[in-house]
Amino acid sequence: MVEINLVGLGLGVTLTLLAVSLHYARGTGWSPTGDISQEVLEKRASAVPETDFPEPMNRSIGGGAAPAGAVAGGEEGAELEEGGEADESGPADIPEDEIEYFEVEFAKQGETIELANNETILEQGEEEGWDLPYACRQGQCVSCAGQITSGGNSEDYVVHDNQQMLDDAELDEGYTLTCVAYPRADFTIETGEAP
Ligand code: FES
Repeated sequence: MVEINLVGLGLGVTLTLLAVSLHYARGTGWSPTGDISQEVLEKRASAVPETDFPEPMNRSIGGGAAPAGAVAGGEEGAELEEGGEADESGPADIPEDEIEYFEVEFAKQGETIELANNETILEQGEEEGWDLPYACRQGQCVSCAGQITSGGNSEDYVVHDNQQMLDDAELDEGYTLTCVAYPRADFTIETGEAP
């Protein structure tokens, strides 16, 4: 019995000493690996081509689409402002003391009225109370078209402020877009006549 107890005691002491020595051992040391996530993101970003439009995935890895878009927006704004200044002078910009009036016969209405050269045919017809056709009022459809029947090209009688719908042949037949047409001579017009 005594021998068994001594063996057990020796084993216990040995294990205890081993545990204590391991507890105080210094080990081989450990240091964390460096954070390379930023480096990886930069490499991926450099492999992605720049784009001119917002692209969320590209932007999320630093592709630079957002700053490019922001700058482009600013430039567009500047261009618009410049364009606005360039558009300032048009057929309607006539000083008060230089406004002229022309005799214009509205055939369908059966009336001849004086039209000023700084307002459109459509506006002045509406001021008479006539229900004249129109839609865009910007020369970009043909809803307001009319035909000048005094002979020859309509632009012998009116100046169009940027009409984009009538071609040369139609102008030659006397067609005009009344929403952007400013009188420059006497004439007769059939309203509500499109080519
Ligand atoms: S209303 Fe559209 S062109 Fe005159």
